[in-house]
Amino acid sequence: MTAAASQTEIRRAAQQLKAGELVAFPTETVYGLGADASNPEAVRKVFAAKGRPADHPLIVHVADAAQLADWARDVPPAAHALAATFWPGPLTLVLKRNPNVPDAVTGGQDTVAVRVPSHPVAQALLHAFGGGIAAPSANRFGRVSATTAAHVHEEFGDAVACVLDGGAADVGIESTIVDCSHDIPALLRPGWITPQQIETALGSLLGAPAARGPRAPGMLDKHYAPQTPLLLMEGDLVAELAHSLVRQGKRVAVLARTRLQPLLDNLRWIAAPADAAGYAHDLYANLRALDHAGCDAILVEQPPEDAAWLAIRDRLARAAAGSGAAEAG
Ligand code: TXA
Ligand code: MG
Repeated sequence: MTAAASQTEIRRAAQQLKAGELVAFPTETVYGLGADASNPEAVRKVFAAKGRPADHPLIVHVADAAQLADWARDVPPAAHALAATFWPGPLTLVLKRNPNVPDAVTGGQDTVAVRVPSHPVAQALLHAFGGGIAAPSANRFGRVSATTAAHVHEEFGDAVACVLDGGAADVGIESTIVDCSHDIPALLRPGWITPQQIETALGSLLGAPAARGPRAPGMLDKHYAPQTPLLLMEGDLVAELAHSLVRQGKRVAVLARTRLQPLLDNLRWIAAPADAAGYAHDLYANLRALDHAGCDAILVEQPPEDAAWLAIRDRLARAAAGSGAAEAG
């Protein structure tokens, strides 16, 4: 367990944000690469560091729901209900934007995504800074998100000078995104907070995402991808395929939930936690470790189909779709 950032480091980071510099910081989902959301020049640096296309909007992180009015207008009762239930926490709301929100943040859309993170270091940074912090996940475009400060250094090296350490992210996968800019709220990205929990808080059913937007490029098929080709399959096929690939002289990495691994050379096997929370917590660190193992393929056992695994299945499907792709989103 790494030591969390000190008050002095947090104050210095807040000053760097005010000076238009980038600051990477922990949240309960994944690490974010932050910039002053009211400063378009600073926000552009985020896109440059990530190699992210300028039309992919960023989430504005704020200290509490009272700051919603600084970024969004016509906030509907449904959004207030979700904020009251899940903030601070791993939920992002897409709302009609205030005219003052820079186009650099929203990708020129007429909506803005807002989230109140619960991580104590994120909270301390937001309070010290005072304003909104625009932050995508702290990884290069299309790559696996960072869940530790070491991952952020791995992604950006010296390009991001300030990385606040808050230990390993609790949740481990990105926030649930709900679009509240239309009459009926819709799920744009599954996350740890499930659709059922959202519907319970709303007291009504989620709708289908609006055909004409808002766009959530995190929904691109290729995303969250390691560089080693990743194949998703049912559990009983994993050992079988691992055997046959190793026999062909390949090196194979496996992410499965069983500890019963075949005794083979050239096989790197990670037994992931059997519960969804533990699996999500470790997911990106495990994918990074397997990606670094120098294998020809990563075989991943398909997780169960129940609701708790929805977001994990979503991320794994995108990682598989992005196999070896350099242009991923
Ligand atoms: O857990 C998280 O959400 C993390 C932490 C750092 O907060 N952030 C994160 O950011 O995952 P990013 O940029 O990797 O993903 C944000 C997603 C993208 O898919 C983006 O398209 C979507 O949010 N998004 C942002 N603004 C939007 C908007 N106005 N309308 C629709 N989608 C939006
Ligand atoms: Mg991301």
